[in-house]
Amino acid sequence: MPKSYEEMEDSNPSAQPHIRELRDPGRRVVLKASAGAAASTLFAPWLAGCASTPAARLRPGFEPVPIGAGDRLIVPKGYVASALAPWGEPVGLPGNLPVWRPDAGNTADEQAAQMGMHHDGLHYFPLDGSRRGLLVMNHEYVDDGLLHADGLKTWTLEKVRKSQAAHGIAVIEVEQAAGGEWRMVRPSRFARRITANTPFNLGGPAAGHPLMRTAADPQGRTVLGTFNNCAAGITPWGTYLSGEENFRNYFAAGSSLDAHQRRWGLTATAFFRWAEHDPRFDAVGNPNEPNRFGWVVEVDPMDPASTPVKRTALGRAAHEGAWVAVTRDGRAVVYSGEDARNEYIYKFVSRDRIRPAGNGLTAAQANRELLDHGTLYVARFDADGVGQWLPLVHGQGPLTAANGFADQGEIVIKSRQASDLLGATKMDRPEWLAIDPVNGTVYCTLTNNADRGKEGMPGPDAANPRANNAHGHIIRWREGGEDGGDFDAARFRWDHLVLAGDPAQPRAGAKGNIRGDLFACPDGLAFDARGMLWIQTDAHATQMYKGEFASIGNNQMLACDVATGEVRRFLTGPTNSEVTGMTMTPDGRTMFINIQHPGETPSDRSDPAEPAKFSNWPDYRPGGRPRSSTVVIRKVDGGIVGT
Ligand code: FEO
Ligand code: CA
Ligand code: CA
Repeated sequence: MPKSYEEMEDSNPSAQPHIRELRDPGRRVVLKASAGAAASTLFAPWLAGCASTPAARLRPGFEPVPIGAGDRLIVPKGYVASALAPWGEPVGLPGNLPVWRPDAGNTADEQAAQMGMHHDGLHYFPLDGSRRGLLVMNHEYVDDGLLHADGLKTWTLEKVRKSQAAHGIAVIEVEQAAGGEWRMVRPSRFARRITANTPFNLGGPAAGHPLMRTAADPQGRTVLGTFNNCAAGITPWGTYLSGEENFRNYFAAGSSLDAHQRRWGLTATAFFRWAEHDPRFDAVGNPNEPNRFGWVVEVDPMDPASTPVKRTALGRAAHEGAWVAVTRDGRAVVYSGEDARNEYIYKFVSRDRIRPAGNGLTAAQANRELLDHGTLYVARFDADGVGQWLPLVHGQGPLTAANGFADQGEIVIKSRQASDLLGATKMDRPEWLAIDPVNGTVYCTLTNNADRGKEGMPGPDAANPRANNAHGHIIRWREGGEDGGDFDAARFRWDHLVLAGDPAQPRAGAKGNIRGDLFACPDGLAFDARGMLWIQTDAHATQMYKGEFASIGNNQMLACDVATGEVRRFLTGPTNSEVTGMTMTPDGRTMFINIQHPGETPSDRSDPAEPAKFSNWPDYRPGGRPRSSTVVIRKVDGGIVGT
């Protein structure tokens, strides 16, 4: 069993470099200015919630905040921030508004009607422009030491059910009052909790596949629940995308693991102790149940009665999330990464064009199968600054029955094994991606990889250039080149935006090349509609405040002017919290972010006898439990956030 939740998966330790890594590793091609000049005509970028491409890129205009310290959330002079919808607040289900109990005494059923724990990616869907809308967000995982009144003592089925109910996704309605503050609208007909027990349909080539069938679901088409959901993405047809990340931490697979289970990081016992009372998570008795997780899930937030869908055509992975671009002829391109050491970056190109709403169908309904048909690719970053998208298509290259792939369903279920065979590039934990609304460049945070260069592990390569990469970096690429520059291109040109870490550090692998304010472990990443890039960090409690991290302080959010590379610190979070998720109202005057796991402990499990050991943000109740929460940020003068 992993010693802690954050003992990062590394199930791909092969030190064997593939042939492209051997080729001329010293040569680097940066994105050329001439490519930038043509970019506005080469790309048809589509940006979440933004009807048009911005005319000009806004640049950070705020006064940066200092390195973060203490159990406080700090924003720049001239800004205000307030907590909204922390863990345990009732989401607003009509007739079901259980009040949060500070002693964690709420039942599992009550938790299923409340905000979950560990808020992560989020998105604002307007109902009434920039004044009223839906916030849809992920609840990545839980701290069972805080979730239950007596923590993990006397582990029961009721505690398992409460833990499952605190995972998943929340849909809440929010509105801005006359004074400018935001509040939850309760009850709301849109309010919804999706938990680890909510029915999902399966779409795409793995739906109905023999490897997806279980005793409880002999057809292999309906799965209960989603969990470990990290980043938020949205589609042009108005739905929400969420990635199922570290699903391996929920399954107890016994002592005799097969090669498939080992490749997916399963362990004999699980970090989350669900299997002790819920046999579904005993992977010895239910060997196919883990195959039903690790997907990108799609939710229609405007229809609370809709059944969410797992989109298997996008491939199975420890998905951080999924981000959509649109080709010039109107097909969807979905980028995603796999947050595990030495895993991969993927791209899916839909077969069909996006359909408009009409004939009595909403856009979400008109595109309900769009992500079920298309071609999946995995990225290879070559040392000459060019990259290749390698098709994960059954029958092509080595992806045949002779090599263990019976059909396309088996390829998407075993996308790691298929990507291994194709020689894809093993990355330093791909977290969030973001697509530049100005020129279509795609950015990806690679948060860290302490295994890089260890004996028996992959060594540094051009795309992941630092051994013991404790501080992470951000890579970017532009589609096309000789292929014509659309998002469905087979090739791309790549370089690094930044290597994180303090340039004053003596160790070569710890020195960053940041132009501006220090940070480490980039995780959340998002462009706003005006072309400013927001970077959020998640260094773990085991790393922070000491050694190479001593000068970096609390986790934070920074704004980056991608035209110059300048990075400016906008916000610092409370003690041992992660800053994650960023969305804005269409007018840019309200920003919503999430603060996850304030007071995180090195073991990821708090002591219920001492819940406020590191933090009791945001309530500051003496001795009280810290609560993950959304934070609303506005400029005092009502201006656009970030300027
Ligand atoms: Fe859940 Fe990769 O962060
Ligand atoms: Ca993350
Ligand atoms: Ca974290």
